Amino acid sequence: MLVTGIEILKKAHKEGYAVGAFNTSNLEITQAIVEAAEETKSPVIIQVSEGGLKYAGIETISSIVRTMAEKASVPVALHLDHGTDFNTVMKCLRNGWTSVMMDASKLPLEENIKVTKTVVEIAHGMGVSVEAEIGKIGGTEDNITVDEREAAMTDPEEALKFAKETGIDYLAIAIGTAHGPYKGEPKLDFDRLKKIKEMLNIPLVLHGASGVPEEAIKKAVSLGINKINIDTDIRQAFARRLRELIEKDSEVYDPRKILGPCKDAMKEVIKQKMILFGAAGKA
Ligand code: G3H
Ligand code: 13P
Ligand code: ZN
Repeated sequence: MLVTGIEILKKAHKEGYAVGAFNTSNLEITQAIVEAAEETKSPVIIQVSEGGLKYAGIETISSIVRTMAEKASVPVALHLDHGTDFNTVMKCLRNGWTSVMMDASKLPLEENIKVTKTVVEIAHGMGVSVEAEIGKIGGTEDNITVDEREAAMTDPEEALKFAKETGIDYLAIAIGTAHGPYKGEPKLDFDRLKKIKEMLNIPLVLHGASGVPEEAIKKAVSLGINKINIDTDIRQAFARRLRELIEKDSEVYDPRKILGPCKDAMKEVIKQKMILFGAAGKA
């Protein structure tokens, strides 16, 4: 069934587990996510980035995800990932999305508060949940110094002010993770996470979670992370299976015989994440 993001995350926050938020931009990735959720009896968040919207078209991807979510035996939310453009956020609301991220984290704090607060007023009026970001979660390719890394992390006092003034439902925080494949091992600032959770007591979101060691994920969940974003690990599972398949059978040409096994490879990765996050059996 299609539900709001906060309906899923309120329960996760109360019971102390995390729900996977997986990026899609096509039919097969969406099938992999929904099938994984049903097979592990997990609530799930299916999210699309602005790049994903551009690739698939908003009406098309909305229809694919909403149709599959409505038919699913587990709770599914349809979420906009890193909505940096106010008009895109509004379009998602028009297309029946149940959760949106207003990501104005690149703007100064007061401007981030202003635009996020406006989105919250409109989205809440329509029964849609809102995520926002405070601090800056970059990419692994960003060449930044240790000091710059520290400066980009979420300040707990700012996070508290932000949450109070905007009325957001869940907050993405920067605690040392980054988007894309890691070169070394990511180092998470668990003390910062603990402090933010104690001060805000709302669901918290971990971005850039692909490639983060299992022990670190478990610790982050135990300290209050309730939504975990995964994209890169799914993309890599897809590409790995695709290469294997083509290498093994250079004659294969039916897209279903190529994309079907790729979907299964993505589904396996997603199922493992759901179990690791503690969401399996929570639907
Ligand atoms: O936050 C980053 C997600 O992995 C989306 O990436 O902008 O390439 O679709 P994308
Ligand atoms: P990864 O690149 O680590 O999968 O991060 C995904 C993400 O945070 C999407 O918002
Ligand atoms: Zn992200």
